[in-house]
Amino acid sequence: MRAVTQAEALQAWHRAYLGKNGALTALLHGLGGLPQKERPAAGRAANEVKQALEAAYEAHAETLRQREPERSLHAEPLDVTLTGRPARVGYLHLISQTRREMCAILARMGFHVLTGPEVELEEFNFTLLNMPPFHPARDMQDTFWVSDDVVLRTHTSPNQVRVMRGRKPPFRVIVPGKCYRVDFDASHNWMFHQVEGFAVGTNISMTDLKGTIVALLQQMFGNDRRVRLRGSYFPFTEPSIEADLECTVCGGTGCGLCKDGWVEVVPGGMIHPQVLLNSSIDPERYSGFAFGAGLDRLAALRFGVGDIRPFYENDLRFLRQF
Ligand code: DAH
Repeated sequence: MRAVTQAEALQAWHRAYLGKNGALTALLHGLGGLPQKERPAAGRAANEVKQALEAAYEAHAETLRQREPERSLHAEPLDVTLTGRPARVGYLHLISQTRREMCAILARMGFHVLTGPEVELEEFNFTLLNMPPFHPARDMQDTFWVSDDVVLRTHTSPNQVRVMRGRKPPFRVIVPGKCYRVDFDASHNWMFHQVEGFAVGTNISMTDLKGTIVALLQQMFGNDRRVRLRGSYFPFTEPSIEADLECTVCGGTGCGLCKDGWVEVVPGGMIHPQVLLNSSIDPERYSGFAFGAGLDRLAALRFGVGDIRPFYENDLRFLRQF
């Protein structure tokens, strides 16, 4: 502040003496009124004074300019030794992280990663998967209907038929994606994620399915993590299984995510011969396994949260914890 005043004072001084209406300027103008004889000497003297004052002014202005950094250092205290505030770095959503990790593990096992439509024909979502109209299994999947024969896919399984129809075995494919159901509780949301996986070829058996699921889960959760396989039912697999993972959220006592210390994470089975037929694949020659991993529950277990819904509420206080 003081120096600013000084700089301004210097300017004022310049205006007062050397400016257009300054004292020295007036004096120089007044030279014309002097007797002819005195004019040269007076003019010279006046010019010398003017040059001396201009030089002094420049020198002083330069001094002030040089002092400016130090002046501002004291006038505006700034501790350059303080650590900076780190900029927040963005990162992938927890579901995306889990999906990528899972796809990477399965890709290393030789699965191709493909995608399919979220708005799906009823025929692919149900009928071709052995769930004709009025099949009771349709009730397991409370469905959003878009029109009489179009749904928001209730699972990624329709891609089994979509992909198989265009391929010749052997193949291994996964299809990650969003699915939709009229569901809402700690382990269900109206929008959720699955990773469909299937392998078709000669001599594919249940042990391949078991090996794939156990290897996948142990790579995601560690070799010590116990996996439980039990019999189940799906119209599009025969036989069908359910793979459960030990619940780490409650440590086995039961919580919103699990029922009895086990969380259902990967349903699957051997692809039903009728589904192979519907996909233009000869069930006499080829067999295949399929699974449909529930990505949201796997993410919940991975991050140790007992409810999948906060993943979708966009509450940064929740998301930033991880
Ligand atoms: N699509 C089934 C569902 O969402 C899950 C499933 C079960 C997928 C068995 C499969 C399978 O591929 O073989 O309930």
